[in-house]
Amino acid sequence: MTTLIEARDLHRAYGANRAVDGLSLTVRAGEAYGLVGPDGAGKTTTMRLLVGALRADRGEIQVGGYVIGRQTEQARAHLGYLAQRFSLYGDLTVAENLEFFGAMRGVRGPALARRAAELLKFVGLAGFEDRPADKLSGGMKQKLGLACALIHEPRVLLLDEPTGGVDPVTRQDFWQLLIRVLAEGTAVIVSTPYMDEAARCTRVGFMYRGRILVEGAPRELTAAMQGRVLELAAHPKDRAKALAAADPDVEDVLTFGDRFHVRVRETAGPLARLPEVLAQAGVAMERLRPIAPSLEDVFISLLAAQAAAADTP
Ligand SMILES: Nc1ncnc2c1ncn2[C@@H]1O[C@H](COP(=O)(O)OP(=O)(O)O)[C@@H](O)[C@H]1O
Ligand SMILES: [Mg+2]
Repeated sequence: MTTLIEARDLHRAYGANRAVDGLSLTVRAGEAYGLVGPDGAGKTTTMRLLVGALRADRGEIQVGGYVIGRQTEQARAHLGYLAQRFSLYGDLTVAENLEFFGAMRGVRGPALARRAAELLKFVGLAGFEDRPADKLSGGMKQKLGLACALIHEPRVLLLDEPTGGVDPVTRQDFWQLLIRVLAEGTAVIVSTPYMDEAARCTRVGFMYRGRILVEGAPRELTAAMQGRVLELAAHPKDRAKALAAADPDVEDVLTFGDRFHVRVRETAGPLARLPEVLAQAGVAMERLRPIAPSLEDVFISLLAAQAAAADTP
């Protein structure tokens, strides 16, 4: 498939703060690349570099074959961008917002009318043309934002936390829309704090302190941790957690709802020891078994490794 986004060795600092610190990535047509990482990791700065809103200190970016910085305008003709805190015009109606963003992108007249109608239907806002954007629900605003970003039929779509603060049902709708955009061969980069969304991406890059620590298909990333996670359900929970964490082969214990994910060096030792240890402490164990790791397990373990490395003098 055609490479539509190519970034090589990007650097961008704010004073001494290296917000993006040697980042490279490639995204092909039809791929969704998930940029995942904690607040301050550099996701928004990366997006702003990719759209040419911010100049890189170093590195090269190509979008649709055009070099950002030298051919930014040509690249932008192929780029749709939904910023993290994007602004619709609240006093303009749904239709007027689409017209405004269309005009900015050089889409006018009958072509604009056709595209606007198609997009309103696509995002489920047909019938809301005359409503002021201020009067839309949060989810509807996100969908209108997506429609505005798609008005000029971009081949590359950058979405910065597009579902932040949106309810789960609307998040689900939003992903159904993205799946259709991808099927048309668009290359998408989407940043998200939600692991279930990351798991839907073709590839995921886990970003921390300006760098991509690991990258791969969600299944590759979780396969690498196979045999390293036990699920534990036991009561009382606090005691169970402390006792599990004290096992010599346990690296850490994460709470997942009413259960724990226990990350281990190997499963045999803890599987043999923990039932006994818990029983002796009067903890009722419901379940202890190896499970398939989730992306969250992978990312937490990466962060733990980073923290450990930072602590080592
Ligand atoms: N305009 C700015 N001026 C100074 N520092 C900034 C600016 N934008 C971002 N930063 C800093 O750069 C780092 C990366 O921020 P950002 O790209 O917004 O991360 P993310 O989107 O992953 O939360 C953070 O330390 C942030 O404080
Ligand atoms: Mg951000």
